[in-house]
This record gives sequence, C-alpha cells and structure tokens, in this order.
Amino acid sequence: MRKKKSIHDFYEMKKNGEKITFLTAYDFPTATFAEDAGLDMLLVGDSLGMCVYGYKGTVPVVMDQMIYHADAVRRGAPNTYVVGDMPFMSYQSSAEKAVENAGRFLKEADCDAIKLEGGVRITDQIRAISDAGIVVMGHIGLTPQSSGQLGGHKAQGRTAEAAKLVYEDAIAVKEAGALMLLVEAVPPEVCGFIAGQLDIPVLSIGAGPEGDGQLLIVSDLIGQFQAFTPKFVKKYCNVAEIITNAMKSYCEEIRTGQFPQEEHCYHMIQGEEKKFVELMKTAK
Ligand code: KIV
Repeated sequence: MRKKKSIHDFYEMKKNGEKITFLTAYDFPTATFAEDAGLDMLLVGDSLGMCVYGYKGTVPVVMDQMIYHADAVRRGAPNTYVVGDMPFMSYQSSAEKAVENAGRFLKEADCDAIKLEGGVRITDQIRAISDAGIVVMGHIGLTPQSSGQLGGHKAQGRTAEAAKLVYEDAIAVKEAGALMLLVEAVPPEVCGFIAGQLDIPVLSIGAGPEGDGQLLIVSDLIGQFQAFTPKFVKKYCNVAEIITNAMKSYCEEIRTGQFPQEEHCYHMIQGEEKKFVELMKTAK
C-alpha cells in the first residue's frame, strides 16, 4: 500500500524539480483507477457540473453535490491527496460562510485541502479558511465560475498589463495564506514566472509546462466529455467511442440472439429441472 503524500511532500517535490501529477475525479471507480495509476493529487472539481450532470457550466453546482462526490472519491482513493473544490456562492458572500463550507469538505468527505477561485478579491476568505487550519489552494487566471465577467472561457494574461494582474492575484493569494496555487489558461511565460517567484507549489492547467505540476480534467483526458475540447487538453484515449461501440455490439447481439450464451446462464441444480416440470403440471 502506498503512503499518501502530504503538503510537505509537494513542497519537497517543487524544491527538487519533481513534477506533481494532478487530475480531477468525481466518482469511486475513477478514483480507484487514479490511485492505481499513481496520481499524486486529485481534485473533486465543480467541473462535475458539466462532466457528470450535463449543466452548461459550473454555476448551478451546490455544496451537497460536491460533498457526495468528494466522499466517493475519498473512498476510491484512500491514499491519495484529495482537494475539494468550493462551488459558486459557497464562499463569495462572506468569510464565515467560506470557513463553514470549507470545513464540510474535511468533516464530511475527509478531503485534505480545498480550492477556491479568485485572486485579490477573495483574500479575506482565503485568510479565514487558512486561519481555521485548512489547507487552501488558490485558483487564478481563467476562473470558470466568473466566466460571465471574463466574457467566456477565455485565456487570461495575454498582454503585459493583463499578465501583471494575474501575477498580482498570485501574490495576494499566497500572502493571504494559500499553500498551493492553480493557474488556469494563461501563457506559459506567465505561469513559469509565477512558479519561479513563489515558494508554494504552482500547478498548471492550460498554462504551459513550467508549473510545478499539471492538472487535467479526467473527462477530457479519457475522451468522455463531448461538448467541447479546450486547446490545452490532450486526450489519452477515447472512452466515448469504446463505450458507444460496446453498447452497439450489445444491442446487435441481443437482436441476433448472440447474447446471452450458455455461459451466461444459471442452470438448475442437477435433478431439479425434472421436479420443476412435474411441479408445474399441478400448478394452477
Ligand atoms: O472544477 C474544476 O475541475 C476546476 C478546473 C477547471 C481547474 O476547477
């Protein structure tokens, strides 16, 4: 059985230039696969709104959904560092609400850390959660919960001025007490600069190779999510095709009588069939 990594291990990995492997997971079976595959860290992301529930975005997701999924992921990956993602309106309105909801991830789903979106404008919440003794991962750059304000799911920090704002967010989040930072959809130079300046692990999703580790959404990586594929995604397989083909074969085999076969049947215990026939003769 492998030993679960701690926040100190991630700092050590950064220091040694060892990349951190990070992936989303939303359910028990995927979490077991991820642990078997040796992932360092799992994010129970509110992207489950799109990937599991079929919503258009992440905004409708609520805390209870996150807790149910985080709990299942923890059971599937008992020896993996699990980060719970705070959904829209679970932390924005006050620091008190933020602490309460962050605490639920630890108490009800045994998560190791929480993640929340935003930079300068949510430092009060980061400070309060961190003061409560909870490990916080910041999330800056493209922040999907505020994609309306950003004009859609668009890359951020592509001009010098915009990149400076991303950097200021990174500093603010770190100074407020975040122990890790996720940077989404910014140019590699910007993420690389931030990772070089900050002494906390800086994870990249769509922000180039220079972060201290990489995150992808599992539904993208395995080719399960069909609605759209961001530029930064690499599909490592196409389970949508594999599953659809399996289902088509199943239908075809039922229709042609190829399924089920002898080996799929439970036969009666020897001698019971004859008795059954006799019994049925007298049945009404
Ligand atoms: O919910 C999620 O999976 C995320 C990633 C998009 C970073 O927050």
